[in-house]
Amino acid sequence: MKQPDLATIKSEALSAIAAVKTETELRAIQVKYLGRKGSVTEILRQIGGLPEAKRARAGATANALRNQVGQAIAAAGQRLRQESLKPGGSQARLDLTVPTKLTFGHLHPISRMIQEILAVFQQMGYEIIDGPEVETEWYNFESLLVYADHPARDMQDTFYLEKGNLPRTHTSGVQVRYMEAHQPPIRILSPGKVFRNEDEDPRHTWMFHQIEGLVVDEGIRLSDLKGTLLTMMRGILTPDTEIRLRPNYFPYTEPSVELDATCIICHGKGCKTCSGTGWIELGGAGMVHPQVFHNVGIDPTIFSGFAFGFGPERIASIKYQVPDLREFWRPNLRFLEQF
Ligand code: DAH
Repeated sequence: MKQPDLATIKSEALSAIAAVKTETELRAIQVKYLGRKGSVTEILRQIGGLPEAKRARAGATANALRNQVGQAIAAAGQRLRQESLKPGGSQARLDLTVPTKLTFGHLHPISRMIQEILAVFQQMGYEIIDGPEVETEWYNFESLLVYADHPARDMQDTFYLEKGNLPRTHTSGVQVRYMEAHQPPIRILSPGKVFRNEDEDPRHTWMFHQIEGLVVDEGIRLSDLKGTLLTMMRGILTPDTEIRLRPNYFPYTEPSVELDATCIICHGKGCKTCSGTGWIELGGAGMVHPQVFHNVGIDPTIFSGFAFGFGPERIASIKYQVPDLREFWRPNLRFLEQF
């Protein structure tokens, strides 16, 4: 019987292996070429009958063929097994322990804003302190001279709780709590949540954050307040930021000021963000009222001090160009993941 030549066997075998779809087909191919009666085996067997001179070369060629076919079959077996494990494959399994793609979270943009602000004040030697979110009327209002019938109460629409407690409407009560327990020198910063009965709109939410600052010592003056606010704003916004203080009224400070900084978007030229004024309003401040010192047992004839309060949401909304403050508190990852 005339044997087909090696080249033909090789190309037939390799293309059959490449086209194979199942393990059974692959076994059949293996038998056909490499089995006991397989065509490659047959050729190897005939080598012994060849003349001595031809034997070595023919043997090497036939062995190479056997190896090539064997390797191609092994590789195809591997491929079939992997395909069978894929979703929809015959061996597919759901392995709940296989690690899925891990995504890492990050701090909320407002938490990060607060941390950035704290870092600026820590460089100036401020101590960071905490205060309660549920306050008494005394600490939230009366100790700060905002009495029950004072018109300034209307500026902070208040949720009231039982027994005269309330979710604090600002962080200013922390000043009083701290001064009751500590004599000057005092240099503190206190970040935290505050709550107001707001109808929500793009610029108002019923919960937001404030950062309260208080410095008390001998000889503290309005110029110290101004220098502190300037340093703070340059640290938080941009190094070329300027500030201005406008007269305002808070019952617990005298004099009281409103703090504006040059717009970080247009650097004071005037743009949409700052309504063309070049300035953005950022917070309130002033020199601590002597009566507040009396309320906590600090002698205002010896000591003076300044206080300020401002909102990290407002700064973040300008810095990151977020026109609607409510976005910060919606469970919307597409928004939050941008930061
Ligand atoms: N508590 C004020 C508010 O919520 C902000 C403020 C103004 C804080 C003047 C102060 C201050 O400490 O001295 O609007």
